[in-house]
Amino acid sequence: MKIIIINGPNLNLLGKREPEIYGSHSFEDYFKELQNKFSALDLYYFQSNIEGEIIDKLHEVGFSYDGIILNAAAYTHTSVGIGDAVKAVSTPVIEVHISNVHAREEFRHHSYIAANAKGIIVGFGLKSYDLAVKSFY
Ligand code: DQA
Repeated sequence: MKIIIINGPNLNLLGKREPEIYGSHSFEDYFKELQNKFSALDLYYFQSNIEGEIIDKLHEVGFSYDGIILNAAAYTHTSVGIGDAVKAVSTPVIEVHISNVHAREEFRHHSYIAANAKGIIVGFGLKSYDLAVKSFY
């Protein structure tokens, strides 16, 4: 089973960025743990700070992979283009967020992805990704 985690802007700084909100682990280290834990799956990881690159990646994997775990970060709340791409592809997309966006500023309460996601996992720290991977079993 092929599953990809796609992370959006600023998530390359995990571990350094606002650790009181996002924790002190780098995503690369966490991803290695996930690969070890779910060794029966083919897990891939892509991160970009560029909206169009995220859309291109959704197009590239979205008709052949078995699952997409998408944390579009700030683009969640702004990007009609990423929302449309999620709608366009046939691979199921799980929207994840590390923090509980609903307990934060109001602009984080709206998602352009949610309506076309298979499901949404928010607020469990990096464990949100773990729970999303499990949802494909
Ligand atoms: C985030 C929440 C977003 O509102 C924010 O812009 C992020 C990270 C999260 O994982 O909690 O960059 O998607």
